[in-house]
Amino acid sequence: MNIPTFPDPNSRKNAIAENTWKWEKRIADLYSRMTLEEKIGQMNMSWFPAFKNEEESYRRVQQGEIGAIILSDTPWPGNGDTSGVDVDYYNRLQQTAVKKSRLGIPLLFGRDIIHGHRTIAPIPLAQAASFDPTVAEAAAELSAQEATADGVKWTFAPMLDICRDPRWGRVIEPFGEDPYLASQMAVAAVHGYQGDDPAAPDRMLACAKHFAGYGYAEGGRDYDAVEISRFTLQNTVLRPFLAAVKEGKAASIMTAFHVNGGVPASADEYLLKDTLRGVWNFDGMVVSDFGSVDEIETHGAAPDARDAARRAVGAGVDMEMCDLLYPKYLAELYREGKIDDAVLERAVKAVLRGKFRAGLFENPYIDTERRHQVMFTAENRATVRRLAASGMVLARNRNHLLPLDPKRPVKIALMGPMAHEKRSLLGAWNGSGKTAETLSIAEAFRQYPSQASLLMTDSQLADDQLALVRRADIVICCVGESQERTGESHALAKLQLPAGQEELIEAVGEWGKPLIVVCCSGRPLPMTSAERYADAILYAWHGGTETAAAIADVIFGLREPTGRFPLTVPRHAGQIPLYYGRKIPGKVTKPFLAERNYSFYDDEPLTPLYPFGYGLSYTEFQLSSARLKSTSIRRGESNEIAVTCSNIGKRSGTVVIQCYLRDPRAAYARPGKELIGFRKVRLQAGENTVVTFSIDEAAMGYYDENGQRLLDPGLFQVGVGLDSTTSLCLEFQVC
Ligand code: BGC
Repeated sequence: MNIPTFPDPNSRKNAIAENTWKWEKRIADLYSRMTLEEKIGQMNMSWFPAFKNEEESYRRVQQGEIGAIILSDTPWPGNGDTSGVDVDYYNRLQQTAVKKSRLGIPLLFGRDIIHGHRTIAPIPLAQAASFDPTVAEAAAELSAQEATADGVKWTFAPMLDICRDPRWGRVIEPFGEDPYLASQMAVAAVHGYQGDDPAAPDRMLACAKHFAGYGYAEGGRDYDAVEISRFTLQNTVLRPFLAAVKEGKAASIMTAFHVNGGVPASADEYLLKDTLRGVWNFDGMVVSDFGSVDEIETHGAAPDARDAARRAVGAGVDMEMCDLLYPKYLAELYREGKIDDAVLERAVKAVLRGKFRAGLFENPYIDTERRHQVMFTAENRATVRRLAASGMVLARNRNHLLPLDPKRPVKIALMGPMAHEKRSLLGAWNGSGKTAETLSIAEAFRQYPSQASLLMTDSQLADDQLALVRRADIVICCVGESQERTGESHALAKLQLPAGQEELIEAVGEWGKPLIVVCCSGRPLPMTSAERYADAILYAWHGGTETAAAIADVIFGLREPTGRFPLTVPRHAGQIPLYYGRKIPGKVTKPFLAERNYSFYDDEPLTPLYPFGYGLSYTEFQLSSARLKSTSIRRGESNEIAVTCSNIGKRSGTVVIQCYLRDPRAAYARPGKELIGFRKVRLQAGENTVVTFSIDEAAMGYYDENGQRLLDPGLFQVGVGLDSTTSLCLEFQVC
């Protein structure tokens, strides 16, 4: 048996937690010597398109006008062409900052290293599907290792937006719908980027974003407004951020583009002042999202751009990302007394602290040799191959069609629009990943050592592809969506495969051959024809550089698809938002009113296509003998639930055991079910193990609107199962 252990973050040594005192004197000394313009310069992030030419960039850095530079050519670099990286130029810029600017404060280079820099890991949604925080940690660690070799000391990740709407294109970037799962992943990802000390040559500063609520965009439309109550903020949306800040020691936070209840995120004092800095004592950097300060005016929440800048600084945005309003207006706002000394001091010191934490005062330059050693190594490729498989979700496997035996000389028709695709497999934020170095699924199958003969055609015509089916013993139809349909500024009104793919699956399915549908997408897409015709359905996501090789590994059984849906899969877009942790409504759920025919929808059941937490293994598991340690505990005490898990199938396999809780007698209506623990366990055929989950204050308690912790005495219901449909069949009292 093998239970991956995720280190207790509190047991880690952490330079950010330990070294604050060491830098504060130097920060105070520097601050005391800075002019107003130099202070504002530190609060300004620029980008290369802002410079007319290289000379201008040196001049402005020398004058102390720029605190940080984002390595991007477009505001959404992941969807544009890969930005070129020029480490010699960055070193020249850094030399200018360190040697020629008056105070020698180094520049901080940032970039969106979301799921890989040169070796691309699976999209974070797929990482979340692994239900294994070590996956998020490993992806972040190898990203940091490669990105720092190109001089990037600050990533704008992890994205911790809770998202319950797969129409939103950015659903690829955070860790799904559940605050507990997202919090576990958040801490792991931050640690992957920062390590125990972000100053280490192969570590970097993390930035938890987007603070907060951006993932609740109305209608799944990117940038749209949200309406999130403080109760929901505290208990759902903020939880991964709290974990990232408190346990993960994330060095920075990014605001967001949206408006919540009339308040633009970059001017949100409740979030930035009261919560982040007030209650959580965060002393790191807060950076605005690209253009979001300027958009305070666009939203109509400031009379002009100057006032937008005033609101952002006042709320606690320390550094502005490329809007250029801080350099334009902060000096005059300060001189007019519209920005307090204390606010300016806190902001500038936060930026300096970030630079000390990144080790830039000691090691400002890029070691241009290291990049030749660490990029796209065989080891990194092997790692992302493993990570890709671990997040793949096997949604159906009739008659154990999968895995295929590589020794069987069967004829496999490998077809569909994804069979020859490369770029999309990398996912939207491809960093410096190269399409030319990415295998297509067809190439990966050709290279795979199997006795199967492959029937393939380069033709894009459906009739040519269908001609293969007739001759095949087994059909693998590779469908999905382009990375261009995912990521920032991409959303769907219709949650379905792109045009023509449903028809293709149907046409294949009509031949009645054993059919495996592999879906490479950035979101869980309901596939009507696959539901009707497929014998096996594998959601392989945009899994990065090694997606195709990992698909071959999984199909031929070298690896298992150990993923579980981190997001409820609706049947129709009309059911959205559909998530397992909904509050329990009245009427419809009262058994004695059943005959009155109350229903959620008249034309469709409310059940999802696949629930959160669902996914199959290549073997079968059974849970039995769930038992509580105690049926009554006192406040302050913990309870424990234990369950026996047995592999009742014929092969070894991995299962994700999940523990859910409900507090049905609370002062507030709490979710109908909440994930409070999960374990990924590998068992040999016939093997059993007992798994326990602790039910402590962290699991039972919750927050009121002001962030105060509550724990209501009375009944609690709990259950352990293999997905979120688990019944909460055990009860205990808290007295
Ligand atoms: C995105 C951020 C990203 C920033 C910089 C914005 O458009 O919302 O997530 O970090 O661009 O590329």
